Amino acid sequence: MDQRALDAARHCKGFLDEEEGARLYDLARTRAHLGPVLEIGSYCGKSSCWLGAGACAGGGVLLCLDHHRGSEEHQLGEGYHDPDLFDDAAGRVDSLPFLRRTLHDAGLEESAVLLVAPSARVAAFWTTPLGLVFIDGGHSLAAAQTDYQGFARHVAPGGILAIHDLFPNPEEGGQAPITIYREALASGLFDELSTVKTLGVLRRRR
Ligand SMILES: C[S@@+](CC[C@H](N)C(=O)[O-])C[C@H]1O[C@@H](n2cnc3c(N)ncnc32)[C@H](O)[C@@H]1O
Repeated sequence: MDQRALDAARHCKGFLDEEEGARLYDLARTRAHLGPVLEIGSYCGKSSCWLGAGACAGGGVLLCLDHHRGSEEHQLGEGYHDPDLFDDAAGRVDSLPFLRRTLHDAGLEESAVLLVAPSARVAAFWTTPLGLVFIDGGHSLAAAQTDYQGFARHVAPGGILAIHDLFPNPEEGGQAPITIYREALASGLFDELSTVKTLGVLRRRR
């Protein structure tokens, strides 16, 4: 990963461990030839730096999908609310300016494509095979299942489905991501690759 993208990832607000990021970089780099790399849940762009740099290195493209209004836990009064991200005029969270700044800093502004919408609206018309799908959007069970059902089937043969925030022990974290991870395994469409910290990695069977 080039130094500019690495620095941008390190300076960006967000929720991704560096070892997880390095794995995402490698996965994006090696699968970008199969189809676009789709990130669901960009927030301020930390994971976008790793995935975007990887997609570029592999000759592909990163699609950043987020409505930028924050998940449940980012809303005013909730545990992960960040007042820097609150748009007083709109009365809502807005992480889009932060993502644009991060992509600029990372040197990815010209290559990444932003999809600013609820994931279900985009899934409703999606048909393109994807080299990698990274699910890190809403963490309620309904939101995670919407993302899984909307996009997992579009992972190209040999492509990757990566899911963030897997916590086998319910006392350590929410259970929605690991629930969809188990659903993906039970579908018979994916093989399990090694997990990095809380990042689960599945490869679509050919
Ligand atoms: C945990 S954050 C993503 C963190 C990011 N991947 C990082 O590396 O820091 C979750 C993001 O998902 C977005 N999100 C939640 N529900 C969504 C939905 N239904 N459609 C689109 N984006 C959604 C939120 O706006 C938020 O920015």
